[in-house]
Amino acid sequence: MNASTVRRIVTADGSATLFSERYAQAFASQRGALAESQEVFLGGSGIVGRLAEGRPVRVLEVGFGTGLNFFVTAGACLAHPEAKLAYTALEHHLLPAEAVSALGYGALLSADMVTHYLEWRADLREASGTHTFKRDRVRLELLLGDAPKQVLPANTFDTVYHDGFSPDVNPELWTEAFLGRLVSALAEGGTLVSYCVQGAVRRRLAALGLVVSKRPGPVGGKREVLFSRKPASRKAGP
Ligand SMILES: C[S@@+](CC[C@H](N)C(=O)[O-])C[C@H]1O[C@@H](n2cnc3c(N)ncnc32)[C@H](O)[C@@H]1O
Repeated sequence: MNASTVRRIVTADGSATLFSERYAQAFASQRGALAESQEVFLGGSGIVGRLAEGRPVRVLEVGFGTGLNFFVTAGACLAHPEAKLAYTALEHHLLPAEAVSALGYGALLSADMVTHYLEWRADLREASGTHTFKRDRVRLELLLGDAPKQVLPANTFDTVYHDGFSPDVNPELWTEAFLGRLVSALAEGGTLVSYCVQGAVRRRLAALGLVVSKRPGPVGGKREVLFSRKPASRKAGP
């Protein structure tokens, strides 16, 4: 994705995001990009609570985009002195660093994290492979390339933030096969959250063994958002 295929927009809560001409969709809710990130992903996944308890957290994000969900989650981690965050993100087209810089997330969130991330990004030229950024107690692994082709570790992540574009324009991120790989990558008790509540997606996740529900979305945002959890496997009795 190059700078000419995205344009900056300001969403209803005053935070900015990008609009993709290629997918004809915004990268985040136009009713509030920051609110969506804080409430659907960080809050909805339960990760905010784990970080507040000072527990190490492992997040897998589908669709890194502008990095807003990462910055929000990293900020929540650094607010708690004992917390540690390992954040793995899948992305096939890294946005130009200047397009991300123009969103002003440094002023809105952790300026230190955003500044160092953008410096790191300015030197990153590859379009594939795994690339690691570290700052303080936060580690980001960017897995560049087609998400369904990535190899993911099993039973690892405390949550999956599924933030692909919608299934009608970005179908490869919502197939039963790819969702199955995400479910395998979740640790027992882990959550998979998304803004997308399409019935077909919910049925696929339920068929893959997740306990799936719809929850109220952010005030002024989507009416309902997706929450699902991987149940703990039953241990055999004595
Ligand atoms: C809705 S945007 C993500 C928004 C992002 N989480 C943010 O906070 O800005 C969806 C992202 O998924 C990426 N994407 C779409 N199809 C993909 C694929 N097959 N493999 C990897 N990334 C993909 C797009 O490039 C885009 O960055």
